[in-house]
Amino acid sequence: MCGIVGYVGSRDATPLLVNGLRRLEYRGYDSAGVAIQENGGLEIRRAEGKLDNLVRVIAERPLSGRSGIGHTRWATHGRPSEQNAHPHVDCGAVTAVIHNGIIENFHDLKAPLVEAGHRFSSETDTEVVVHLVEQELAQGRTLDEAALRVLPQLEGAAALAFISVKDPGKIVAARISNAGAVIVGYGEGESFIASDIPALLEHTRRMSFLDPGELAVVTATGVTFRRLEDGAPVEKAVQDIQWDLVSAAKSGYKHFMLKEIYEQPRVVSDTLIGRVERESGRVAFDDDLKLTDAQVKGLRRLTLLGCGTAGYAALAGKYLIERLARIPCDVEIPSEYRYREPVVVPDQLVVALTQSGETVDTLAAMQEAKRQGARLLSFVNVMGSQATRLSDDVIYLHAGPEISVASTKAYTAMLVDLYLFAIFLGQRRGTLGKEKAAKLLADAFHLPTLIDALLQEEPRIRALAYRYHQARDFLFLGRGMNYPTALEGAHKLKELSYSHAEGTAAGEMKHGINALIDESLPVVAIALQDSTYRKMRSNIQEVRARAGVVIALASDGDEEIEGQADEIVRVPDTNELLSPALAVLPLHLFAYHVADRRGNDVDQPRNLAKSVTVE
Ligand code: BG6
Repeated sequence: MCGIVGYVGSRDATPLLVNGLRRLEYRGYDSAGVAIQENGGLEIRRAEGKLDNLVRVIAERPLSGRSGIGHTRWATHGRPSEQNAHPHVDCGAVTAVIHNGIIENFHDLKAPLVEAGHRFSSETDTEVVVHLVEQELAQGRTLDEAALRVLPQLEGAAALAFISVKDPGKIVAARISNAGAVIVGYGEGESFIASDIPALLEHTRRMSFLDPGELAVVTATGVTFRRLEDGAPVEKAVQDIQWDLVSAAKSGYKHFMLKEIYEQPRVVSDTLIGRVERESGRVAFDDDLKLTDAQVKGLRRLTLLGCGTAGYAALAGKYLIERLARIPCDVEIPSEYRYREPVVVPDQLVVALTQSGETVDTLAAMQEAKRQGARLLSFVNVMGSQATRLSDDVIYLHAGPEISVASTKAYTAMLVDLYLFAIFLGQRRGTLGKEKAAKLLADAFHLPTLIDALLQEEPRIRALAYRYHQARDFLFLGRGMNYPTALEGAHKLKELSYSHAEGTAAGEMKHGINALIDESLPVVAIALQDSTYRKMRSNIQEVRARAGVVIALASDGDEEIEGQADEIVRVPDTNELLSPALAVLPLHLFAYHVADRRGNDVDQPRNLAKSVTVE
């Protein structure tokens, strides 16, 4: 989720670009840069880390000009560093590009460019694009003509912007896929572009929004639009945007948490990009995973670690990996593991799940395992975080920055990545046949559509949350793959609504939990039509026999459950192993609306932090 800004007009672009990037800081980033084009020259300044570092670099080596582009990078390919920061320039340093998204086929595109003698200075996928544009400009084409010929070659990209000395005073910006917003701002004798509204609001409220497959040709005197597929002119409405800055950062959602819940279809798509080899159907992770097939075959034990929500993902990972790869797995609470003098055996892999990559308990547990000789693999969202530096292998979540303290999209990304990882292990250990793997992967690629459909249920879940928002206690029941889902549902409700909520394995009810059941206790039961369905139906009967109130999560096609629960929330059908990534959605929305109805600060719950980096 990188940030893009651009300016062309009569003012000095540099300060305008930097301020625009500041307005996009909430999106999270790990490096930043600007490119300024003036009087036949093009200059770039870039810096790793926060914008203040870029400001310092610009102060040391000032640059100014009347047109330019700027970028904050959320790294996906290539670690955070100055040379991986955008903008990237071509061999002659006369054209610059900035990019948001992932170019899935950049390896295929890069090879012939290297053959042709192009010199690359970064390990990013983005740099390929500016060398392709360089080749088109060398044929005497305009910058927009060049872009129209290059962009259709890219797979998976989202949004890009270019400037060039060869076509001065012009920015060319394109939105390729849904993920990459590109907005044009109209000023008096000046024009702007940005990836999000907050970067434009102080200059103008008159904006046009590119749709996927559109390109904008931006000059100080005006903007024209063209269709990517054939270059045909496109008419775009000019809208008058009345948002204030804060609501703009949330894209109009009331809270970052809700925005992040709604980003999940794209997050799951981004999580899957480039992870299944087309020909073989094998799962393969990018170059931060160095685990060899031989090492996978030799693994004797996995230990999965995670705090809070990440810990529930770890539990789901245990079920997935034991089911598909038949490797013994244990799940550990990091703050316990680090002090209990754990035993590490040869050929053990310790797997850490951590969105921030900075949770001190998780890091300490990783260090303890490493000290005893374990190999470390971590699932992390934030590139360059400590966990990524500590690990031998890293699988990135590609969830984009998660601002809300309560983790939602990162949790879903962990579930999908663990699902892929279990398939990855099973394929290499010969415990998972080709057909079954293909079916499991087909279901994963269908998941974004199902999440979209399930999100339509929000009004129904909001009504449910309002009906039960005064209850002081809640119980969440689940079995099998959705036992972790029950734990996560209770966790979310606790951390957001400040109500007590307990998640438990439904089979444990008769060993004590039944004592809690009465008409004041809403019980959320996850009863999807999978291998645990019959048992869950009995548990629901047990609750209702004691006058308990049952809110059942049920499969779309389940008619039997009608009349068997006080409330029913429908969940689309998918395979049992993938169902936690769907079943958790209504529970996140339920917790969100109970908390919101209570007037709690949803994004910053009391006493909690997004990442606990201190003891
Ligand atoms: C807690 C957060 O502080 O840390 C949870 O409130 C999160 O949402 C947990 O799951 C672990 O954080 P991380 O960054 O290690 O996944």
